[in-house]
Amino acid sequence: MSSTILITGASSGIGRDTALYYAKQGWQVYALARSADKLAQLQALFPEQIVPVVVDLTDSAALQHWQQQLDSVIKFDQVLLNAGNCEYVEASALDLAAFERTFELNVLAVVSCTKLLLPRLTAGGTLAIVSSMAHFFPFTRAEAYGASKAAISYFADSLRLDLADSGIRVCLIEPGFIDTPLTQKNDFSMPFLMPAEQAAARIFNGLHAGKLRLRFPRRLAYLLKTLNLLPYNLRCKLAAKMKQT
Ligand SMILES: NC(=O)c1ccc[n+]([C@@H]2O[C@H](COP(=O)([O-])OP(=O)(O)OC[C@H]3O[C@@H](n4cnc5c(N)ncnc54)[C@H](OP(=O)(O)O)[C@@H]3O)[C@@H](O)[C@H]2O)c1
Repeated sequence: MSSTILITGASSGIGRDTALYYAKQGWQVYALARSADKLAQLQALFPEQIVPVVVDLTDSAALQHWQQQLDSVIKFDQVLLNAGNCEYVEASALDLAAFERTFELNVLAVVSCTKLLLPRLTAGGTLAIVSSMAHFFPFTRAEAYGASKAAISYFADSLRLDLADSGIRVCLIEPGFIDTPLTQKNDFSMPFLMPAEQAAARIFNGLHAGKLRLRFPRRLAYLLKTLNLLPYNLRCKLAAKMKQT
């Protein structure tokens, strides 16, 4: 019997390429997003293996309904909580609604999926949570996005601790810049930008190897971590300088 994964945010970007990567390796892929048309196109590529799941993750009742309708024998070997959004904000007029939308999807929906899907994981299964390197260093206009990713990274690390005896492995995924519709909107230079197919391969191989944390591209992770070793005042000055360039 083939292994099974549920991937959220599978209609586009990292999630879509990861869904394709897993399907190519013979996995059964439950591909979740809101866009039924995009999921149907994805399924057409691997009709036997990809199962579209049209759910808005900010509607926890809809997610619960789908989960309850699912055959009780269906279990996931891996769950990849990847769906997320990025909205930039202006400090001079902080947009609370943008913060609410960002935290609703990037944080609360992840918690809600975790609660609903943990019982669906096989013994020894993996729950993988996609955060971001964005919270390693202060970036301009990223108050909402960076804060949401800092929150979810903490959530994943803490959850791992508390699930240690359950046999469920929690993997925290913190990508740098990946070429997807999310970053194609950016108007600044993105160092070490990685194609989404490559990110998908990193995720597949990393989860297969039982890694607890994945960071790619590694060069960006090293760079940002090195900047964090600087004295705090110097780090703040550097962040301010980067904002101006
Ligand atoms: N790209 C990067 O450089 C980068 C870097 C670090 C971290 N990340 C993280 O990686 C993840 C994927 O990002 P991406 O770049 O692949 O973005 P993307 O191409 O914009 O894809 C986002 C996915 O999330 C789904 N989604 C959005 N709102 C949803 C909702 N309410 N319910 C269900 N699904 C929803 C979208 O599908 P529908 O619109 O069809 O619902 C889409 O499939 C995000 O968590 C992002 O923060 C990305």
